[in-house]
Amino acid sequence: MDKVVNPRHPYAHAAQLPPGTDPVAFPEIFPGREGPWEIEIGPGRGGFMFERCAAAPEVTLLGLEIRFKWANIVDEKLKKGGLSAQARVLAADAKIALERLRPDASVRAVFLMFPDPWWKKRHEKRLVLGEELLVNIARLLTPEGHLFIQTDVEERAQRYEALVSAHPAFEPAGDEAGNPHLVENPYGARSPREHRAIADGLPIHRLRYRKRAPA
Ligand SMILES: C[S@@+](CC[C@H](N)C(=O)[O-])C[C@H]1O[C@@H](n2cnc3c(N)ncnc32)[C@H](O)[C@@H]1O
Repeated sequence: MDKVVNPRHPYAHAAQLPPGTDPVAFPEIFPGREGPWEIEIGPGRGGFMFERCAAAPEVTLLGLEIRFKWANIVDEKLKKGGLSAQARVLAADAKIALERLRPDASVRAVFLMFPDPWWKKRHEKRLVLGEELLVNIARLLTPEGHLFIQTDVEERAQRYEALVSAHPAFEPAGDEAGNPHLVENPYGARSPREHRAIADGLPIHRLRYRKRAPA
């Protein structure tokens, strides 16, 4: 179950999944929508959510952000911008929340951009992308659904590539057959950190995987 937030936390009122551990279907979060669903893990200041809504109005996008402050600020901004039917950000640890989401095989894309800005060994347990998250991403993706990862840290890119490439549920879906690397971001929307990395001239490592069809 998600950690219970201190009721005196200034952003304790941020929108969250219903309390408990029961499964939650997307239409409970987005009444009246039928998908296709997409998920952004860790949207931070939320720029990708707004750009993606504009680039793909047919999509319904759920952001899961562990920092209550930013989850609440971005969710409110989406509401003020008239976008809350199409996109919401819930305050949640994606590692816990993904497990509750349903239906299986319903999500067209999962975006994980510039995650894991922690370097110390003792912070490794905080890393978002791990086996547990991959199992739930694989469960939620549609056949042919995509997992898109970006980072400006080469060591992290290597780590993600090793992890996802070794997972039987995913196959590379980059620019070249059998390789997960993409030169450009094909989604018509960039995250805040991506904009900053471009402005700073930093190399961006982009990896894309497709859910492998059952054998
Ligand atoms: C370096 S920031 C990148 C923000 C945004 N994706 C971008 O590219 O601009 C990483 C984000 O992931 C969030 N995050 C870290 N661990 C998370 C988790 N377990 N569940 C949800 N969000 C998480 C952080 O709070 C932060 O907003």
